[in-house]
Amino acid sequence: MASASGGQREKVVLAYSGGLDTSVAVKWINETYNMDVVAYTCDLGQGQDIEAIRQKALRTGAIDAIAEDARNLFVDYFAFPSLAAGALYEGKYPLATALGRPLIAQLMVRVAREHGATAVAHGCTGKGNDQVRFDVTFQTLAPDLKIIAPVREWKWTRTQELEFAAKHGIEVEATKKSIFSTDQNLWGRSIEAGILEDPWVEPPPETFQWTADPATAPDQAEEVEITFDRGRPVGLNGRELDGVELINELNAIAGRHGVGRIDHIENRLVGIKSREIYEAPAAVVLHEAHREIEFLTLSKESLRFKTQVSQTYADLIYNGLWFSQLHQDLMAFTVSNQQYVSGTARIKLFKGHAQIVGRKSEHSLYRHELATYEEGDQYDASAALGFIKIHGLGQTTQAKHQLLTGEGSRRLELPSIIPPSRAE
Ligand code: ARG
Repeated sequence: MASASGGQREKVVLAYSGGLDTSVAVKWINETYNMDVVAYTCDLGQGQDIEAIRQKALRTGAIDAIAEDARNLFVDYFAFPSLAAGALYEGKYPLATALGRPLIAQLMVRVAREHGATAVAHGCTGKGNDQVRFDVTFQTLAPDLKIIAPVREWKWTRTQELEFAAKHGIEVEATKKSIFSTDQNLWGRSIEAGILEDPWVEPPPETFQWTADPATAPDQAEEVEITFDRGRPVGLNGRELDGVELINELNAIAGRHGVGRIDHIENRLVGIKSREIYEAPAAVVLHEAHREIEFLTLSKESLRFKTQVSQTYADLIYNGLWFSQLHQDLMAFTVSNQQYVSGTARIKLFKGHAQIVGRKSEHSLYRHELATYEEGDQYDASAALGFIKIHGLGQTTQAKHQLLTGEGSRRLELPSIIPPSRAE
Protein backbone atom coordinates (compact mmCIF):
# COMPACT_ATOMS: atom_id res chain seq x y z
CA MET A 1 0.00 0.00 0.00
CA ALA A 2 2.91 2.41 0.57
CA SER A 3 3.60 4.63 -2.38
CA ALA A 4 6.13 3.21 -4.76
CA SER A 5 9.46 4.90 -4.26
CA GLY A 6 9.73 7.88 -6.54
CA GLY A 7 6.05 8.00 -7.61
CA GLN A 8 3.96 10.02 -5.18
CA ARG A 9 0.30 9.11 -4.81
CA GLU A 10 -2.28 11.75 -5.55
CA LYS A 11 -4.08 13.25 -2.58
CA VAL A 12 -7.74 13.63 -1.71
CA VAL A 13 -9.16 15.82 1.02
CA LEU A 14 -11.90 13.92 2.84
CA ALA A 15 -14.59 15.53 5.03
CA TYR A 16 -13.94 13.45 8.12
CA SER A 17 -16.40 13.19 11.00
CA GLY A 18 -14.69 10.47 13.00
CA GLY A 19 -17.65 8.16 12.51
CA LEU A 20 -17.67 4.71 10.95
CA ASP A 21 -18.48 5.74 7.37
CA THR A 22 -15.74 8.29 6.94
CA SER A 23 -13.22 6.12 8.82
CA VAL A 24 -13.89 3.22 6.50
CA ALA A 25 -13.73 5.71 3.62
CA VAL A 26 -10.08 6.49 4.42
CA LYS A 27 -9.03 2.88 3.77
CA TRP A 28 -11.51 2.37 0.97
CA ILE A 29 -10.13 5.38 -0.94
CA ASN A 30 -6.55 4.13 -0.36
CA GLU A 31 -7.48 0.79 -1.89
CA THR A 32 -9.98 1.77 -4.56
CA TYR A 33 -8.39 4.93 -5.88
CA ASN A 34 -4.80 4.35 -4.75
CA MET A 35 -4.78 7.85 -3.30
CA ASP A 36 -3.57 9.33 -0.03
CA VAL A 37 -6.17 10.84 2.25
CA VAL A 38 -5.90 14.18 3.99
CA ALA A 39 -8.66 14.22 6.60
CA TYR A 40 -10.53 17.47 7.19
CA THR A 41 -12.66 18.19 10.25
CA CYS A 42 -14.09 21.51 11.36
CA ASP A 43 -15.89 22.65 14.44
CA LEU A 44 -19.25 24.21 13.64
CA GLY A 45 -20.34 23.87 17.24
CA GLN A 46 -21.37 20.23 16.99
CA GLY A 47 -19.95 19.70 20.46
CA GLN A 48 -17.27 17.18 19.54
CA ASP A 49 -13.58 17.13 20.40
CA ILE A 50 -12.15 17.85 16.95
CA GLU A 51 -8.57 17.24 18.08
CA ALA A 52 -9.56 13.70 19.13
CA ILE A 53 -11.19 13.23 15.73
CA ARG A 54 -8.01 14.47 14.05
CA GLN A 55 -5.96 11.93 16.00
CA LYS A 56 -8.37 9.18 15.04
CA ALA A 57 -8.01 10.13 11.37
CA LEU A 58 -4.25 9.73 11.62
CA ARG A 59 -4.61 6.37 13.39
CA THR A 60 -7.03 5.29 10.69
CA GLY A 61 -4.49 5.91 7.96
CA ALA A 62 -4.83 9.52 6.82
CA ILE A 63 -1.42 10.91 5.82
CA ASP A 64 -2.39 14.24 7.26
CA ALA A 65 -5.33 15.54 9.26
CA ILE A 66 -6.61 19.06 9.78
CA ALA A 67 -9.01 20.16 12.48
CA GLU A 68 -10.07 23.78 12.74
CA ASP A 69 -12.58 25.95 14.52
CA ALA A 70 -15.00 27.44 12.00
CA ARG A 71 -17.72 28.47 14.44
CA ASN A 72 -17.30 32.21 13.93
CA LEU A 73 -17.33 31.88 10.17
CA PHE A 74 -20.41 29.72 10.45
CA VAL A 75 -22.31 32.18 12.60
CA ASP A 76 -21.19 35.40 10.87
CA TYR A 77 -21.49 34.28 7.27
CA PHE A 78 -24.12 31.56 7.38
CA ALA A 79 -26.39 31.31 10.44
CA PHE A 80 -26.96 35.01 11.16
CA PRO A 81 -27.38 36.09 7.53
CA SER A 82 -29.94 33.31 7.08
CA LEU A 83 -31.74 34.61 10.17
CA ALA A 84 -31.77 38.18 8.86
CA ALA A 85 -33.18 36.80 5.61
CA GLY A 86 -35.85 34.88 7.55
CA ALA A 87 -34.83 31.58 5.96
CA LEU A 88 -36.99 28.72 7.21
CA TYR A 89 -37.32 25.88 4.70
CA GLU A 90 -40.99 25.22 4.04
CA GLY A 91 -41.69 27.60 6.87
CA LYS A 92 -40.25 25.22 9.47
CA TYR A 93 -36.62 24.11 9.21
CA PRO A 94 -33.95 26.67 10.20
CA LEU A 95 -31.51 24.89 7.86
CA ALA A 96 -28.69 24.00 10.27
CA THR A 97 -27.30 21.12 8.22
CA ALA A 98 -27.90 22.85 4.90
CA LEU A 99 -26.01 25.95 6.07
CA GLY A 100 -23.01 23.95 7.24
CA ARG A 101 -22.31 22.16 3.97
CA PRO A 102 -21.19 25.03 1.71
CA LEU A 103 -18.83 26.28 4.42
CA ILE A 104 -17.27 22.85 4.97
CA ALA A 105 -16.90 22.38 1.22
CA GLN A 106 -15.32 25.80 0.78
CA LEU A 107 -12.82 25.17 3.57
CA MET A 108 -11.98 21.79 2.06
CA VAL A 109 -11.22 23.40 -1.29
CA ARG A 110 -8.76 25.70 0.48
CA VAL A 111 -7.09 22.69 2.13
CA ALA A 112 -7.00 20.85 -1.18
CA ARG A 113 -5.11 23.77 -2.73
CA GLU A 114 -2.69 23.99 0.20
CA HIS A 115 -1.94 20.28 -0.03
CA GLY A 116 -1.87 20.04 -3.79
CA ALA A 117 -4.74 17.55 -3.71
CA THR A 118 -6.46 16.51 -6.92
CA ALA A 119 -9.72 15.36 -5.36
CA VAL A 120 -12.17 15.95 -2.54
CA ALA A 121 -14.40 13.40 -0.83
CA HIS A 122 -17.41 13.26 1.49
CA GLY A 123 -19.34 10.53 3.25
CA CYS A 124 -22.85 11.37 2.02
CA THR A 125 -25.25 8.77 0.72
CA GLY A 126 -26.87 8.98 -2.70
CA LYS A 127 -30.36 9.69 -1.34
CA GLY A 128 -29.97 12.92 0.50
CA ASN A 129 -29.54 16.64 0.01
CA ASP A 130 -26.08 16.80 1.51
CA GLN A 131 -24.38 15.10 -1.43
CA VAL A 132 -25.92 17.75 -3.69
CA ARG A 133 -24.73 20.60 -1.48
CA PHE A 134 -21.19 19.25 -1.31
CA ASP A 135 -20.90 18.32 -4.97
CA VAL A 136 -22.41 21.54 -6.33
CA THR A 137 -20.16 23.63 -4.10
CA PHE A 138 -17.06 21.70 -5.14
CA GLN A 139 -18.05 21.87 -8.81
CA THR A 140 -18.61 25.61 -8.49
CA LEU A 141 -15.50 26.58 -6.54
CA ALA A 142 -13.04 24.05 -7.94
CA PRO A 143 -14.27 22.40 -11.12
CA ASP A 144 -10.87 20.75 -11.61
CA LEU A 145 -11.13 18.67 -8.44
CA LYS A 146 -12.43 15.14 -8.75
CA ILE A 147 -15.23 14.27 -6.32
CA ILE A 148 -15.23 10.94 -4.55
CA ALA A 149 -18.26 9.85 -2.53
CA PRO A 150 -17.35 6.46 -1.02
CA VAL A 151 -20.67 5.74 0.66
CA ARG A 152 -22.54 6.55 -2.55
CA GLU A 153 -20.12 4.39 -4.53
CA TRP A 154 -19.49 1.28 -2.45
CA LYS A 155 -23.16 0.29 -2.09
CA TRP A 156 -22.46 -1.97 0.89
CA THR A 157 -24.81 -3.26 3.54
CA ARG A 158 -23.90 -2.33 7.05
CA THR A 159 -22.58 -5.84 7.66
CA GLN A 160 -20.26 -5.61 4.67
CA GLU A 161 -19.04 -2.25 5.89
CA LEU A 162 -18.32 -3.67 9.36
CA GLU A 163 -16.44 -6.60 7.80
CA PHE A 164 -14.27 -4.17 5.85
CA ALA A 165 -13.66 -2.20 9.05
CA ALA A 166 -12.69 -5.33 10.96
CA LYS A 167 -10.34 -6.50 8.21
CA HIS A 168 -8.55 -3.16 8.26
CA GLY A 169 -8.46 -2.75 12.02
CA ILE A 170 -10.65 0.35 11.96
CA GLU A 171 -11.94 1.33 15.38
CA VAL A 172 -15.67 0.80 15.64
CA GLU A 173 -17.00 2.53 18.74
CA ALA A 174 -17.94 0.04 21.43
CA THR A 175 -21.08 2.04 22.11
CA LYS A 176 -24.00 0.90 20.03
CA LYS A 177 -24.30 3.01 16.92
CA SER A 178 -27.04 5.60 17.20
CA ILE A 179 -30.39 4.29 16.02
CA PHE A 180 -30.81 7.55 14.13
CA SER A 181 -28.85 9.42 11.52
CA THR A 182 -27.90 12.75 13.00
CA ASP A 183 -26.01 15.89 12.13
CA GLN A 184 -25.47 18.86 14.35
CA ASN A 185 -23.95 22.30 14.60
CA LEU A 186 -24.64 25.48 16.57
CA TRP A 187 -27.76 26.22 14.56
CA GLY A 188 -29.43 22.91 15.29
CA ARG A 189 -29.55 19.14 15.38
CA SER A 190 -31.04 17.06 12.56
CA ILE A 191 -32.36 13.61 13.37
CA GLU A 192 -33.72 11.11 10.88
CA ALA A 193 -34.17 7.41 10.07
CA GLY A 194 -34.95 4.48 12.34
CA ILE A 195 -38.39 4.57 13.91
CA LEU A 196 -38.81 8.18 12.71
CA GLU A 197 -39.39 6.88 9.19
CA ASP A 198 -42.98 6.20 10.23
CA PRO A 199 -44.59 9.66 10.12
CA TRP A 200 -47.39 8.49 12.43
CA VAL A 201 -45.01 7.55 15.22
CA GLU A 202 -44.27 10.16 17.87
CA PRO A 203 -40.52 10.69 18.20
CA PRO A 204 -39.36 8.66 21.20
CA PRO A 205 -37.58 10.47 24.05
CA GLU A 206 -34.15 9.32 22.85
CA THR A 207 -34.61 11.38 19.67
CA PHE A 208 -33.90 14.52 21.65
CA GLN A 209 -30.65 15.65 23.21
CA TRP A 210 -30.86 19.42 23.35
CA THR A 211 -34.43 19.97 24.46
CA ALA A 212 -36.36 18.94 27.54
CA ASP A 213 -39.69 17.21 27.13
CA PRO A 214 -42.11 20.16 27.35
CA ALA A 215 -44.26 18.14 29.76
CA THR A 216 -41.47 17.97 32.34
CA ALA A 217 -39.92 21.36 31.55
CA PRO A 218 -39.86 23.91 34.43
CA ASP A 219 -43.26 25.09 35.70
CA GLN A 220 -41.79 28.56 35.96
CA ALA A 221 -41.66 30.52 32.71
CA GLU A 222 -38.43 32.30 31.85
CA GLU A 223 -38.08 35.47 29.87
CA VAL A 224 -35.23 36.30 27.52
CA GLU A 225 -34.49 39.63 25.89
CA ILE A 226 -32.82 39.51 22.51
CA THR A 227 -31.33 42.61 20.99
CA PHE A 228 -30.85 43.01 17.25
CA ASP A 229 -28.75 45.42 15.28
CA ARG A 230 -29.81 45.65 11.64
CA GLY A 231 -31.22 42.15 11.72
CA ARG A 232 -28.34 40.54 13.61
CA PRO A 233 -28.56 39.39 17.22
CA VAL A 234 -26.05 41.30 19.32
CA GLY A 235 -27.29 40.94 22.88
CA LEU A 236 -28.94 38.54 25.27
CA ASN A 237 -30.66 39.77 28.43
CA GLY A 238 -28.99 43.14 28.15
CA ARG A 239 -25.46 41.77 27.71
CA GLU A 240 -23.58 42.27 24.49
CA LEU A 241 -22.53 38.83 23.31
CA ASP A 242 -20.50 37.38 20.52
CA GLY A 243 -22.63 35.30 18.14
CA VAL A 244 -21.22 31.91 19.09
CA GLU A 245 -21.72 32.57 22.80
CA LEU A 246 -25.17 33.99 22.26
CA ILE A 247 -26.33 30.93 20.34
CA ASN A 248 -24.74 28.54 22.85
CA GLU A 249 -26.40 30.28 25.79
CA LEU A 250 -29.74 30.50 24.09
CA ASN A 251 -29.60 26.84 23.05
CA ALA A 252 -29.14 25.95 26.71
CA ILE A 253 -31.85 28.28 28.08
CA ALA A 254 -34.52 27.55 25.48
CA GLY A 255 -33.65 23.85 25.37
CA ARG A 256 -34.28 23.64 29.10
CA HIS A 257 -37.83 24.84 28.45
CA GLY A 258 -38.44 22.35 25.68
CA VAL A 259 -38.40 25.01 22.98
CA GLY A 260 -37.11 24.22 19.50
CA ARG A 261 -38.50 20.81 18.59
CA ILE A 262 -39.56 20.59 14.95
CA ASP A 263 -41.25 17.64 13.24
CA HIS A 264 -41.28 18.11 9.48
CA ILE A 265 -42.37 16.05 6.49
CA GLU A 266 -39.87 17.65 4.21
CA ASN A 267 -39.51 17.82 0.44
CA ARG A 268 -35.99 16.80 -0.37
CA LEU A 269 -34.31 18.17 -3.45
CA VAL A 270 -33.95 14.64 -4.80
CA GLY A 271 -37.71 14.13 -5.03
CA ILE A 272 -38.31 12.24 -1.81
CA LYS A 273 -40.53 13.32 1.06
CA SER A 274 -38.80 12.48 4.30
CA ARG A 275 -39.65 12.79 7.95
CA GLU A 276 -37.14 14.94 9.77
CA ILE A 277 -36.90 15.93 13.39
CA TYR A 278 -34.94 18.97 14.38
CA GLU A 279 -33.86 20.49 17.64
CA ALA A 280 -33.01 24.13 17.20
CA PRO A 281 -33.78 26.01 20.41
CA ALA A 282 -31.70 29.12 19.71
CA ALA A 283 -32.63 29.30 16.03
CA VAL A 284 -36.35 29.01 16.78
CA VAL A 285 -36.28 31.71 19.45
CA LEU A 286 -34.11 34.00 17.32
CA HIS A 287 -36.37 33.64 14.26
CA GLU A 288 -39.39 34.43 16.41
CA ALA A 289 -37.72 37.43 18.05
CA HIS A 290 -36.33 38.71 14.76
CA ARG A 291 -39.68 38.50 13.03
CA GLU A 292 -41.25 40.51 15.82
CA ILE A 293 -38.71 43.30 15.44
CA GLU A 294 -39.53 43.25 11.73
CA PHE A 295 -43.26 43.61 12.46
CA LEU A 296 -42.36 46.69 14.49
CA THR A 297 -39.93 48.31 12.08
CA LEU A 298 -40.70 47.25 8.50
CA SER A 299 -43.41 48.88 6.46
CA LYS A 300 -46.36 46.71 5.46
CA GLU A 301 -45.10 46.54 1.87
CA SER A 302 -41.54 45.66 2.90
CA LEU A 303 -42.83 42.92 5.20
CA ARG A 304 -44.88 41.38 2.42
CA PHE A 305 -42.11 41.49 -0.11
CA LYS A 306 -39.60 40.15 2.42
CA THR A 307 -41.74 37.02 2.87
CA GLN A 308 -41.12 36.13 -0.76
CA VAL A 309 -37.40 36.77 -0.44
CA SER A 310 -37.27 34.59 2.68
CA GLN A 311 -38.82 31.68 0.89
CA THR A 312 -36.56 31.95 -2.15
CA TYR A 313 -33.55 32.33 0.10
CA ALA A 314 -34.48 29.26 2.15
CA ASP A 315 -34.90 27.18 -1.02
CA LEU A 316 -31.56 28.39 -2.32
CA ILE A 317 -29.79 27.32 0.89
CA TYR A 318 -31.63 24.02 1.06
CA ASN A 319 -30.85 23.26 -2.57
CA GLY A 320 -27.13 23.88 -2.20
CA LEU A 321 -26.93 27.00 -4.36
CA TRP A 322 -25.06 29.14 -1.84
CA PHE A 323 -22.34 30.28 -4.23
CA SER A 324 -24.62 31.87 -6.79
CA GLN A 325 -25.24 35.39 -8.02
CA LEU A 326 -28.87 35.06 -6.98
CA HIS A 327 -27.65 34.64 -3.41
CA GLN A 328 -25.68 37.88 -3.59
CA ASP A 329 -28.68 39.67 -5.08
CA LEU A 330 -31.01 38.41 -2.35
CA MET A 331 -28.47 39.34 0.31
CA ALA A 332 -28.11 42.85 -1.13
CA PHE A 333 -31.86 43.22 -0.73
CA THR A 334 -31.75 41.75 2.77
CA VAL A 335 -29.02 44.08 4.00
CA SER A 336 -30.95 47.08 2.69
CA ASN A 337 -34.23 45.74 4.02
CA GLN A 338 -32.76 45.20 7.49
CA GLN A 339 -31.28 48.63 8.02
CA TYR A 340 -33.93 49.62 10.58
CA VAL A 341 -34.45 46.15 12.06
CA SER A 342 -32.80 47.03 15.36
CA GLY A 343 -34.36 46.69 18.76
CA THR A 344 -35.15 44.26 21.54
CA ALA A 345 -37.72 41.49 21.76
CA ARG A 346 -38.92 39.91 25.00
CA ILE A 347 -39.70 36.25 24.61
CA LYS A 348 -41.29 34.11 27.28
CA LEU A 349 -40.19 30.48 27.31
CA PHE A 350 -42.60 28.03 28.80
CA LYS A 351 -43.07 24.30 28.26
CA GLY A 352 -42.13 24.13 24.62
CA HIS A 353 -43.40 27.57 23.66
CA ALA A 354 -41.54 30.74 22.82
CA GLN A 355 -44.05 33.54 23.07
CA ILE A 356 -43.43 37.17 22.24
CA VAL A 357 -44.51 39.35 25.15
CA GLY A 358 -42.92 42.68 24.31
CA ARG A 359 -40.76 44.54 21.83
CA LYS A 360 -39.15 47.94 21.37
CA SER A 361 -37.08 49.77 18.79
CA GLU A 362 -35.71 53.23 18.18
CA HIS A 363 -37.01 52.85 14.64
CA SER A 364 -40.45 51.61 15.58
CA LEU A 365 -43.20 52.35 13.09
CA TYR A 366 -45.75 51.57 15.77
CA ARG A 367 -46.73 55.12 16.73
CA HIS A 368 -48.68 55.46 19.92
CA GLU A 369 -50.02 58.86 18.83
CA LEU A 370 -51.61 57.15 15.83
CA ALA A 371 -52.76 53.95 17.50
CA THR A 372 -54.15 55.22 20.78
CA TYR A 373 -57.85 55.47 21.71
CA GLU A 374 -56.82 57.64 24.62
CA GLU A 375 -55.71 61.25 24.83
CA GLY A 376 -53.05 62.49 22.44
CA ASP A 377 -54.62 60.86 19.40
CA GLN A 378 -53.30 62.48 16.24
CA TYR A 379 -55.05 60.20 13.78
CA ASP A 380 -57.53 62.08 11.60
CA ALA A 381 -60.62 59.86 11.80
CA SER A 382 -62.63 62.20 9.57
CA ALA A 383 -60.30 61.25 6.71
CA ALA A 384 -61.41 57.62 7.11
CA LEU A 385 -64.78 58.34 5.56
CA GLY A 386 -63.43 59.47 2.22
CA PHE A 387 -60.86 56.71 2.26
CA ILE A 388 -63.50 54.02 2.78
CA LYS A 389 -65.62 55.41 -0.02
CA ILE A 390 -62.76 55.29 -2.51
CA HIS A 391 -61.39 51.97 -1.24
CA GLY A 392 -64.77 50.25 -1.69
CA LEU A 393 -65.78 52.07 -4.85
CA GLY A 394 -64.97 49.24 -7.25
CA GLN A 395 -66.95 46.71 -5.26
CA THR A 396 -69.95 48.92 -4.54
CA THR A 397 -70.13 49.90 -8.21
CA GLN A 398 -70.10 46.26 -9.25
CA ALA A 399 -72.83 45.37 -6.78
CA LYS A 400 -75.05 48.18 -7.96
CA HIS A 401 -74.71 47.45 -11.67
CA GLN A 402 -74.24 43.68 -11.72
CA LEU A 403 -74.54 41.60 -8.57
CA LEU A 404 -77.72 43.15 -7.19
CA THR A 405 -79.59 43.62 -10.45
CA GLY A 406 -82.28 41.56 -12.24
CA GLU A 407 -81.49 37.86 -12.65
CA GLY A 408 -78.31 38.20 -10.66
CA SER A 409 -80.01 39.52 -7.56
CA ARG A 410 -79.29 36.35 -5.59
CA ARG A 411 -75.60 36.47 -6.36
CA LEU A 412 -74.62 37.94 -3.05
CA GLU A 413 -76.47 35.34 -1.00
CA LEU A 414 -74.11 33.02 0.82
CA PRO A 415 -74.77 29.82 -1.21
CA SER A 416 -73.89 31.77 -4.35
CA ILE A 417 -70.53 32.74 -2.91
CA ILE A 418 -69.75 29.38 -1.31
CA PRO A 419 -71.38 26.58 -3.33
CA PRO A 420 -73.09 23.90 -1.19
CA SER A 421 -70.62 21.10 -0.41
CA ARG A 422 -72.90 18.39 -1.88
CA ALA A 423 -75.91 18.27 -4.14
CA GLU A 424 -79.19 18.58 -2.25
N1 ARG B 1 -32.92 16.91 6.00
C1 ARG B 1 -31.99 17.85 6.48
C2 ARG B 1 -31.33 18.59 5.36
O1 ARG B 1 -31.42 18.17 4.25
C3 ARG B 1 -31.00 17.23 7.41
C4 ARG B 1 -30.03 16.27 6.87
C5 ARG B 1 -29.32 15.67 8.00
N2 ARG B 1 -28.24 14.84 7.69
C6 ARG B 1 -27.97 13.74 8.38
N3 ARG B 1 -26.87 13.12 8.16
N4 ARG B 1 -28.80 13.26 9.27
O2 ARG B 1 -30.72 19.61 5.57
